[in-house]
Amino acid sequence: MLNDIEKVLLSEEQLKEIVEKLGEQITNDYKGKKLVVVSVLKGSVVFMADLMRAIKIPCEIDFMAVSSYGSGTETSGIVKIIKDLDSEVVCGSDLLIVEDILDSGKTLHYLREVLSARKPSSIKICTLLDKPDRRKAPIKADYAGAVVPDAFVVGYGLDYDEKYRNLPFVGVLKPEIYENN
Ligand code: IMP
Ligand code: MG
Repeated sequence: MLNDIEKVLLSEEQLKEIVEKLGEQITNDYKGKKLVVVSVLKGSVVFMADLMRAIKIPCEIDFMAVSSYGSGTETSGIVKIIKDLDSEVVCGSDLLIVEDILDSGKTLHYLREVLSARKPSSIKICTLLDKPDRRKAPIKADYAGAVVPDAFVVGYGLDYDEKYRNLPFVGVLKPEIYENN
């Protein structure tokens, strides 16, 4: 698995620092609010698990699963809800959508539309990684851990073809791994 990584982009230590900082900001911004943290499966699970423990105010958590990629490295643009929120009481909640990476932005744009229609008090986006150069949909993260270059990255929850999610760091995948597909 490690042989497929070109270079480490964010080490375990760097990720820890990033998550602590985001947790602190969210803690300050959501005091007295009805925070519901929504993790977008599966890519954000590792980030979510660390981030929720860095948030020092009461919050609920929930999960949504969407598909957008297939096994390639480009978003198809067609987003499908595979699993919806368990919670039906979105109305009046302060939703914070947690994503692994904001790339074309199509997935989060769609998700934000769907969730906004349920009338939450507020809706914001927290992404671990941001690839602003690749943006196609009109969307910006309210909280972003780190800006990354236009390369395909894996680890800390992020996958290529469902693999590499369990790497404890974020690394650039060697292009030859996906170029042959
Ligand atoms: P978007 O709709 O193009 O913004 O794509 C968002 C989703 O694509 C993310 O939630 C990831 O699952 C996936 N994705 C985008 N870029 C990468 C990457 O570099 N590595 C792994 N997954 C990625
Ligand atoms: Mg993914």
